[in-house]
Amino acid sequence: MSTGIFITLEGGDGVGKTTQAELLSSWLEQRGFEVVRTREPGGTDLGASIRGLLLHGGHVTQRAEALLYAADRAQHIDQVVRPALERGAAVVQDRFIDSSLAYQGAGRALALDEVRGINEWATERLWPELTVLLDLDPTVAAKRRAEAGMTDDRLEREAIEFHERVREEFRALAAAEPGRFLVLDAAARVEDLHEAIIARVAPLVTEL
Ligand code: TMP
Repeated sequence: MSTGIFITLEGGDGVGKTTQAELLSSWLEQRGFEVVRTREPGGTDLGASIRGLLLHGGHVTQRAEALLYAADRAQHIDQVVRPALERGAAVVQDRFIDSSLAYQGAGRALALDEVRGINEWATERLWPELTVLLDLDPTVAAKRRAEAGMTDDRLEREAIEFHERVREEFRALAAAEPGRFLVLDAAARVEDLHEAIIARVAPLVTEL
């Protein structure tokens, strides 16, 4: 039985997920929670190798890509996330299955139900209590990344149409599951986004 809380952050590249994850983690730590800050891909040693193959290696076919993200996830959930939840920790994670649905499903045009299927198998159907979607126009996000001097990885180099499909899928996933998702306009101020996230998290952690 899990007793901790599992929170994920989703959205395109350069929307501010990491900043919000760090702010949320500090807030939880100040309230006495053990916080596990982690990410996919790359939250384990095996995952770090898979991340390199996915983002900085050569050509990866679409199905191999979907399976590599799922393999990273299987290792990560088993080795890091479930043990943390079982000891009552708060897991604050950049990206999860919703990213595979948006990028491999909508972006690459693989069948969504099949991508969902391999990922639910990989994770033994673990889903977060809360998923924060930071929604932003991909053109604005690309500009932010360029201004921050970030070099684009293999996925980020995809055409703007790819990133628009990704954004639309994230929004569709959120609309289908309003109980799990909190959708925020990532163009808002960092402090205002943090406040909105806290307002949603606070009632969830009172019982922990
Ligand atoms: P990051 O830079 O946010 O850590 O994510 C790495 C890239 O991997 C990002 O472009 C999104 C992509 N990605 C997928 O395509 N599918 C997935 O399941 C995950 C977790 C990430």
